[in-house]
Amino acid sequence: MTQILEPDSLSGRRALVTGSSRGVGADTVRYFAEAGADVVVNFRNKAPRAEKLAAQLQELGVRALVQGADLTDPESVAAMMAEIKAAFGGLDILVLNASGGMEGGMAEDYALQLNRDAQLSVLEAALPLMGEGSRVVFVTSHQAHFIRTTPTMPEYEPVALSKRAGEDALRERIPELAERGIEFVVVSGDMIEGTVTATLLNRMNPGAIEERREQAGRLYNVAEFAAEVARAAVEPVPADHTRLVGDTTSFGA
Ligand SMILES: NC(=O)c1ccc[n+]([C@@H]2O[C@H](COP(=O)([O-])OP(=O)(O)OC[C@H]3O[C@@H](n4cnc5c(N)ncnc54)[C@H](OP(=O)(O)O)[C@@H]3O)[C@@H](O)[C@H]2O)c1
Repeated sequence: MTQILEPDSLSGRRALVTGSSRGVGADTVRYFAEAGADVVVNFRNKAPRAEKLAAQLQELGVRALVQGADLTDPESVAAMMAEIKAAFGGLDILVLNASGGMEGGMAEDYALQLNRDAQLSVLEAALPLMGEGSRVVFVTSHQAHFIRTTPTMPEYEPVALSKRAGEDALRERIPELAERGIEFVVVSGDMIEGTVTATLLNRMNPGAIEERREQAGRLYNVAEFAAEVARAAVEPVPADHTRLVGDTTSFGA
């Protein structure tokens, strides 16, 4: 992976990326650490992966705290924030990346629990740790961001609706965040090649990835999209608090 942010540009800053044991979250947390930030690697199930990543990041000379927490469980979130406070004293960057809803064996409303309710409760629990000049980044997909105007695959629709509901609920907090001097930005991207979700959707809808690639011209991979998420945490926030990654013409944008 190439370095995306200026070396040492995040020295002394502290970042939590939810769902950073794998995928986009793992690459994002690595970019922050490469820029000198102390980081929190959060996972739900994949403890060994999270531990391995944290060990690699520590070799860069930063602090890397591993926190297992199911974000749909408020007690688990509170315990994670208490650990972060004790270890780092606060947070400068919160990336709300963790997402789900297509897992089997979960409650019927699990997508809403994770993609809307848990996003709000993580923000709520993190706020006491965040001061002026800190930033919240919410990660979503074009398929979710544009769900009100552009239909998506039926298997992804509940996830898309729940992620859009989460985005809307977070956006309602912008005035309050602004009062506290906390910035907020949404990063939205197309299907990402090589991810579990895209692979699963492609299995259910053979040819879906290829079709999207043709419509969009090209699709981002995990490292490329994570680079956009990392940049969103440091570059000026667009006036509409939205960073759209890649081609959006087929979404009417
Ligand atoms: N995949 C795509 O094609 C795509 C496209 C555009 C945007 N995005 C967005 O990018 C973000 C990351 O996507 P991804 O594909 O990298 O995700 P992923 O590979 O499915 O990883 C999800 C991460 O979230 C964690 N997680 C899931 N449920 C959790 C819970 N209840 N509590 C705590 N952590 C939980 C997982 O932890 P464990 O590993 O421990 O299970 C994992 O670290 C999402 O917001 C997604 O909407 C993805």
